[in-house]
Amino acid sequence: MDPIRNPFAPGAGTPPPELAGRDDLRNALRIALERARIGRPAKSAMLVGLRGVGKTVLLDRIREDAEEVGIHTVRIEAPEGRSLPALLAPQLRQALLRLSQIEAAKDYAVRGLRALAGFAGKLKVTFADIEVGLDYAPEPGLADNGDLEHDLQALFEQVGLAAKSAKTALAIFIDELQYVDEPQLAALITAMHRTEQRQLPVVLVGAGLPQLRGQMGNAKSYAERLFDFPEIGPLPLPAARLAIERPLAKEGVDIEDDALEQILRVTQGYAYFLQQWGSHTWRAASQSPITKADVDTASVTAIAALDESFFRVRFDRLTPKEKKYLRAMAELGAGPHRSGDIAACFKAAVTSLAPTRSSLIVKGMVWSPNHGDTAFTVPMFDKFMKRIVPGQDWR
Ligand SMILES: Nc1ncnc2c1ncn2[C@@H]1O[C@H](COP(=O)(O)OP(=O)(O)OP(=O)(O)O)[C@@H](O)[C@H]1O
Ligand SMILES: [Mg+2]
Repeated sequence: MDPIRNPFAPGAGTPPPELAGRDDLRNALRIALERARIGRPAKSAMLVGLRGVGKTVLLDRIREDAEEVGIHTVRIEAPEGRSLPALLAPQLRQALLRLSQIEAAKDYAVRGLRALAGFAGKLKVTFADIEVGLDYAPEPGLADNGDLEHDLQALFEQVGLAAKSAKTALAIFIDELQYVDEPQLAALITAMHRTEQRQLPVVLVGAGLPQLRGQMGNAKSYAERLFDFPEIGPLPLPAARLAIERPLAKEGVDIEDDALEQILRVTQGYAYFLQQWGSHTWRAASQSPITKADVDTASVTAIAALDESFFRVRFDRLTPKEKKYLRAMAELGAGPHRSGDIAACFKAAVTSLAPTRSSLIVKGMVWSPNHGDTAFTVPMFDKFMKRIVPGQDWR
């Protein structure tokens, strides 16, 4: 069918034609943000889930929902290798400048900008990557301690006061939060704790891999009480069906039942895979209705495309040892797997493999659902590993 009209959108953070199955969570966050705005306690939320389940697009949609009702937002993505204060500072500046346009909030916003000047000035010694325009002189003693945990608290407090006096809330969106290291995560949690204690309208909406929950708990033991950790998983069947059917229907295209069932079976409801199969099925089909034969043709090219993109980009970042570790895991199946079972695959001691396992966790390739267990963070990575490293020679 006409490739120009292909509605499906496989990609990283690419909005899908139909954001299926996430209404409850959007609604819960809409309520939390509205509560924050009127000064009621509102829990921040960390969206946790595997690669490609749709965390980023959900985060962005929640942000759009918030902006639509006049809540102020900032958004950052924590990449590997940049500090959280460096990412936050320019965004908070923008938020404060916007708030300073509101008459009722002007004084607090300006004080917030002074806090930011103190914050950036002192912390630049520790975080050399902080670069932010300064609009006002710092106020001695305001967020200029030089200690991240202390100064971030003071800064968030000022931002919260400014938002409160503007009768709005500030929602801070942070994607890939698992890449933020523990002391910085601890500072972020403490800052949120402070705004909560003072009932200031600041809400954090984060997203990250499943290990984020444990990382936050390690950084501050009360983090698990302070935040909700909604799990973003594969779409339940009715939602997965909608994700395929609706975009097709909008184009006036039907799909036969067994064709749709086949897509649901192979994708297991994983958002990225649904888009991938939707897109390749569209290309394979020559007319409506789409048949199971079209889906079978599409499966071949869809898997090949995944191998060259979604899976490949992750594989290429691995050292030979890490590849071998993941290949051993794949040998055992989808997982999770016990460390002992993985070690037994290459007749090695568990301790000798521990550094490899740790580096895979840091890279976000695996996580530990329970003590001593290891699981892939990329759905269906086991099958990919077996395709790219076939046979038994890897041992
Ligand atoms: N609810 C949904 N319904 C249909 N498609 C979706 C849904 N959510 C996400 N998608 C699609 O899934 C793909 C992956 O989405 P996204 O990049 O948000 O995932 P992610 O969880 O952030 O992945 P990663 O962990 O790799 O960053 C995109 O192509 C997106 O359009
Ligand atoms: Mg993402």
